[in-house]
Amino acid sequence: MAGVTALQGLRDVGQVRPGQKVLVNGASGGVGTFAVQLTRALGAEVTGVCSRRNLELVRSLGADHVVDDTREDVTRRGARYDVVLDLVGNHPLADCRRLLTPDGILVLSSGGGGPVVGPLGRYLRALLLSPFVGQRLRVHAAKPRHEDLDALRELVEGGGVTPAIERTFPLQDTAEAVRFFAEQHARAKLMITV
Ligand SMILES: NC(=O)c1ccc[n+]([C@@H]2O[C@H](COP(=O)([O-])OP(=O)(O)OC[C@H]3O[C@@H](n4cnc5c(N)ncnc54)[C@H](OP(=O)(O)O)[C@@H]3O)[C@@H](O)[C@H]2O)c1
Repeated sequence: MAGVTALQGLRDVGQVRPGQKVLVNGASGGVGTFAVQLTRALGAEVTGVCSRRNLELVRSLGADHVVDDTREDVTRRGARYDVVLDLVGNHPLADCRRLLTPDGILVLSSGGGGPVVGPLGRYLRALLLSPFVGQRLRVHAAKPRHEDLDALRELVEGGGVTPAIERTFPLQDTAEAVRFFAEQHARAKLMITV
């Protein structure tokens, strides 16, 4: 699901093309670690944003540039991107738009947000604003699709994408895995072996 979310977000919603500049906010997470590699596989240049402890991981996945969001606000660096895949939702919409080229595409894909409506308010604002600005502000909800899993499998088998796994747990330690995920701010993916 993480791989399919990244693939559909970049290829279908973001329409990433070779040579473009792409920013992945949340590059060290389950979706982000796929997104960094898939951006490269699509022939684009990728900048990954994550916390300092994960910079090396994101670099090792092929990111051309990394930004430590515990040290600097990526929206204030002055860089512009053709496509921004936002997997965190930690910047106001206006700041996200500052990251885009005049006709850039913002792909909103984070699940966070307020306690009542989650990310819906942000999504609604983006959808209402988009027709009136040059930039395209899009909401992305991934759909499980057989052919996309096949495309991912081919990329993995061809070596273009390697699922990033922080830790593997045997089935009987699933409770510990869930605890680790919740308490340790896990990176990439945790694996349960059956
Ligand atoms: N649109 C869809 O269909 C779809 C599908 C799947 C997931 N999602 C959403 O996409 C988002 C990413 O999913 P994921 O599975 O990749 O999540 P994840 O594995 O938990 O990764 C979270 C990412 O966000 C970063 N982050 C920044 N500030 C954070 C904070 N305060 N707390 C936690 N993480 C923070 C993390 O970086 P550091 O650890 O380096 O700080 C990490 O790169 C989630 O909001 C999820 O709900 C959407």
